[in-house]
Parts: sequence; structure tokens; C-alpha cells
Amino acid sequence: MKEKILALLLNQEKFISGEEISQLLGVSRTAIWKAIKKLKEEGYEIESVSNKGYHVVSVPDKMIKEELKILLNDCKMIEKIFVYDTIDSTNQEAKRHALNGIGHALIVSEEQTIGRGRRGRTWISEKGSGVFMSLLLRPDIRPENASLLTLLAGLAVKRSINHITGLESFIKWPNDIVLNGKKVCGILTEMSSEIDTINYVVVGIGINVSNQIFDQELLDKAAHLEGETGHNINRKELLRNIILEFEELYNQFIITENLEFVIDEYNKSCINVNEIVVINRREGELVGKCTRIDKNGELMIMKDGKEIGIHSGEVSVRGLYGYV
Ligand code: BTN
Repeated sequence: MKEKILALLLNQEKFISGEEISQLLGVSRTAIWKAIKKLKEEGYEIESVSNKGYHVVSVPDKMIKEELKILLNDCKMIEKIFVYDTIDSTNQEAKRHALNGIGHALIVSEEQTIGRGRRGRTWISEKGSGVFMSLLLRPDIRPENASLLTLLAGLAVKRSINHITGLESFIKWPNDIVLNGKKVCGILTEMSSEIDTINYVVVGIGINVSNQIFDQELLDKAAHLEGETGHNINRKELLRNIILEFEELYNQFIITENLEFVIDEYNKSCINVNEIVVINRREGELVGKCTRIDKNGELMIMKDGKEIGIHSGEVSVRGLYGYV
């Protein structure tokens, strides 16, 4: 009920009368009044004027399930939304849901107590300071192509940051988003699979919106969106944008299982391209000029006149994050 009333209020630019809500939803005026009272308690500022009705003046800067459901109404990909005030890690929670048989889902939390980064690092996730979310996916693709979902998520985030802030951000292959030379987003993709089939994939996205604390290692390499733009960022609008962008990319990708359909945009968005990069691999360090990212998501480097494809590894880009 609360969700339906909120949906009516949010879809209305002006006032909507209690009478109209009551007729549209077939509920009593008392039930409406109770739902509005609850919404106010949650932080929605709702004006009520006699003879006019109700009007939402402002919404709280908080991830609220009912509102996210309304905002993502036109997203077909997500079957379930889970929203938490606090959780160990949205990726971990997504995996638990996967084991319980949940299909495509979005898991969002205001705070993570053990947020996880790549390579065993932590992702500090203070309450309300960022977008901390995981997408639980069950794509019918070959397991070796699942890592491309990280690149698509990166492109979705890059597009959305540009849309919301008007600023041009870049992707640092494979999983960072960089704004003004600093990391504002990291992506951690995890998978459970058999040799030839995927059980599930979790794409975890962490965006720095206003956080004051960073992991020691990111201290002088990271920034947050509000600091870079000088404006308040609507986290829910950012989340909505990312999900819709990702859905569009995902739907095309699961047909072809490669990046051909976005490869030009990806290469233009990728900060590694045409730069000297250092790749730390188990086999040792490799230095070369990155020529492009290919349609299979490999980072191509020119080394001794030959183009070599790199599938994974820790990559540094000369001139970025203080690397010289
Ligand atoms: C990285 O750059 O090291 C990846 C960071 C990924 C952080 C996000 S926040 C939401 C999701 N849940 C986690 O525990 N990690 C990812």
C-alpha cells in the first residue's frame, strides 16, 4: 500500500487529493493517512493542504526499497530488490541469495561492514557515503566470457556519471572508473561455475559519492563525486541510471558474448589506450604501450613489434594515480 501511494505521489508534479488516491487504489482515507504518516517518519517531506491534497516536497537521501522499486519500474532484468541499512558485503549477500535460488536481483546497502575490493582488499563503505550495490545475474554464456560483464558494468557507470554530473570520466581497464585522474568507482565481479556452465555471476559496484575515509592504499589515488563536482549527487538517480544502462548493454552482450557492439565507445572511454602500461602478472612484470581493448575484452599491448593480448592482471598506467 505504502509503495503504491508513494508511486502516485512521486508521479505527480502537483497535489493529489486523498479522494483521488482513495478512488485509484480502492482504500480508505484513514489507510492513506496512515501510509503518509509512515512515509513522513521515513524522511519524506510531504505537504498536505486542505482541499488540495498531498504533495512530495523532498525525498530522503536514503536507499529505500519501495522507492527503488518505483525508480526501477521500467527495468525488466531485475526480478527482486533487496535493500539493507547495513550488511557485511552486498557481494556476499548476493551469493547467499544465489544459493537460496534467487534469480536476477539487485542488492543495495547503505553501509558495508566488510566491503570487499579486488585481490583481497577491503572497500571502506561508510553509511550513506556511496552507492554500494551488487547485481546477481544468471547469464547463459560461457564461463570464460563472464569477465566481460565487468567491462560492461564499467561502461554503464562511466555513461551514468557523465549523464548525472556532466563530467567526462574514464575506465581504467578492467574495473576502475577514474574522474580527474582519481578513482571514484571500483567493480568486483565474482562467479560460481562448472567447467562449461555458469551457476551465477555477481557484479559488485562501489561508487564514492561523499566518503571521507578511504582505504590506506587508495588514500591519494581516490576521490568522491561530490568533491569532484562540487554538487550534491542524487545516489538513487545514479543507481537507476547505471542499472538501466547496464541492462541495455547486458541484453546485447548475452546474444553475441563479445564487445563488438560497443568496442569503439569502450576504447574511447578507456584511459589505458595509447598509454604505457605496466602489467603485474604471476609470470612477472610486462611493460608496453596499450594499443586497444579487443572485442574479447583483452588489453592489447605492443611489445617488441608484436601485439600481445592480456586477459587479466594488475595494471598501472603511466601518469595515473601517481605512477611515473
Ligand atoms: C575494487 O576496486 O577493488 C573493487 C571494489 C568493489 C566494491 C563493491 S561495493 C559493492 C560490492 N560489495 C562488495 O563487497 N564489494 C563491491
